[in-house]
Amino acid sequence: MRVTINEIKEMKAKKEKIVMLTAYDYSTAKLVDEAGIPLILVGDSLGMVMLGYESTIPVTMDEMIHHTKAVVRGAKRALVVGDMPFMTYHTIVSDALRNAARFIQEGGAQAVKLEGGVTVAETVKRIVDCGIPVMGHIGLTPQSIHQLGGYKVQGKTPEVAERLLRDAQALEQAGAFSVVLELVPAPLSRLITQKLRIPTIGIGAGADCDGQVQVVSDLLGLFSDFVPKHAKQYARLAGAIKTALADYVAEVKAGKFPTPEHSSTMDESLLEQLARA
Ligand code: KIV
Repeated sequence: MRVTINEIKEMKAKKEKIVMLTAYDYSTAKLVDEAGIPLILVGDSLGMVMLGYESTIPVTMDEMIHHTKAVVRGAKRALVVGDMPFMTYHTIVSDALRNAARFIQEGGAQAVKLEGGVTVAETVKRIVDCGIPVMGHIGLTPQSIHQLGGYKVQGKTPEVAERLLRDAQALEQAGAFSVVLELVPAPLSRLITQKLRIPTIGIGAGADCDGQVQVVSDLLGLFSDFVPKHAKQYARLAGAIKTALADYVAEVKAGKFPTPEHSSTMDESLLEQLARA
């Protein structure tokens, strides 16, 4: 049975920490699911970590749907959340509804996530009213990177801190089942978490959120050149992959791979007949 939004909400009531991780493809989603992680985010961060874009802004609905389908095929138990890309929920509500529906109908996701607070609350309500669970996302919202002026902690001034609290409350009122707090000072995240009935999921937002989300490639150390401050590398796969690739190259060049163990044989007399023909 797949995890439901009610089970996620109950985890807050039971003070059980919620673990969430991104995944963008079938085989990673399968591993994440098998690790018992109940929430998988097909984040638009895939634009940067899978597609090599400089930000999340160029990511399209078609790219998101393509990756969401693969993740859903790999994850049998986790609740899969599809991340609505830049400008797919801002123009008119009917577009937002159509795009949210694509994640559920075509992608097979069970929920969508979108960035913003008070300004998107009405849209969140309309999507929820259609029966599609919504996760909010406030604080550092990467789709507004040009407006925010960089990947900086949000909520250090009284005005922004107050606005973030109002944003979180507006999302709860609109019917969101949870809200991501990204790069928010830990004491402010604690206050927002205490004030909300729905769970908060932090990334760079301290330990007092109801749950944590990380980008899978940061956690597995797939990039050695840059590690964000909020990330912890639980493995250093970039180094392991580079070593494996160098070994493969060396063995092919030296004629050491493949060995008979990796090859198949056939009836030698058939080969002789063929050679005589
Ligand atoms: O796209 C993403 O991976 C995200 C997480 C950082 C929350 O939005």
